[in-house]
Amino acid sequence: MPTTLAERTAGPPVGRTWDDMDAFEAFLDAGGIVEAHDDMPEAYRLEVFRFIELHANSELMGGLTERDWIPKAPGLRLKQIFLAKTQDEIGHAHLLYMVAADMGKKSRPEMLDDLFAGRTRFHNVFHYQAVTWADQIAIAYLVDAAAFASQRAVFQNCSYGPYKRVLKRIVAEEGFHMRHGEEMLMRLAEGSEIQHRMFQEALDRWWMPAVQLFGPDSSDDDPLMRWHIKSQRNETLRHAYVQKYVPLLQGYGFTIPDEGLRHDPDAGWLISDIDWSELRATMRNGGPDSRRRIATAAGSHADTAWVREALEAAA
Ligand SMILES: [Fe+2]
Ligand SMILES: [Fe+2]
Repeated sequence: MPTTLAERTAGPPVGRTWDDMDAFEAFLDAGGIVEAHDDMPEAYRLEVFRFIELHANSELMGGLTERDWIPKAPGLRLKQIFLAKTQDEIGHAHLLYMVAADMGKKSRPEMLDDLFAGRTRFHNVFHYQAVTWADQIAIAYLVDAAAFASQRAVFQNCSYGPYKRVLKRIVAEEGFHMRHGEEMLMRLAEGSEIQHRMFQEALDRWWMPAVQLFGPDSSDDDPLMRWHIKSQRNETLRHAYVQKYVPLLQGYGFTIPDEGLRHDPDAGWLISDIDWSELRATMRNGGPDSRRRIATAAGSHADTAWVREALEAAA
């Protein structure tokens, strides 16, 4: 069965219609890549589209959070870094909305309308408020790292070609964000008692949202696993994240805000059972800062309408 682009352009399945889901899944299992112009089962098109739309919305909402902190970032160097990071995140959203729109389910304006009207979702971590500068550091250190881990897992085995190609760039840039988070954290960890306490308070606010970003345990019949969009189960990614970040944070002298945290000689670090009702409420746009964030995003979009109109007029 052809799986590479060269093989595919030489013959089937280019131009082939998938009337049989088993044959389509066998194609994916053999490493087959689906392109935007290829025929694909409607269920695959819909699930992959929804996944990419959620990702695009999350990049946009994350980018706007970074933007809010540019004026408050201490010093020119950090302002430049946060400016660049904002540009990265909005760029990720831009690429993902293009890929999603090409799937033919919704146009970019329709996706943005749905986001601003609260009809679609974005990742849980962007439903909370960043209270202090240390929260921004916790976001860079914990949230960018969690996003990096989950996006890299998609990139490693992604069956949808256009998504895989933009993920290559996104994952590379998220790696920079994660490294920058580490640099900022080390400064606070080595800083004054007040700085140390500020980060501990931010960690108390952001640890659980970051851990919950991976989602509840994957179901055995998760179509995104079967169709090679996700390559690892949610609980596997979450466990690996906990193994890495618990010892790192403890090494810097911080306390993980989880009284049930324990170390098992075989399984490693184990966290308390997670109450997923908070995540579910958040994903229904009922998080602590959801309403303000959506209103801010919609306001930004309305305020910049003149740029889009000018570009369209010029074109
Ligand atoms: Fe991003
Ligand atoms: Fe990022």
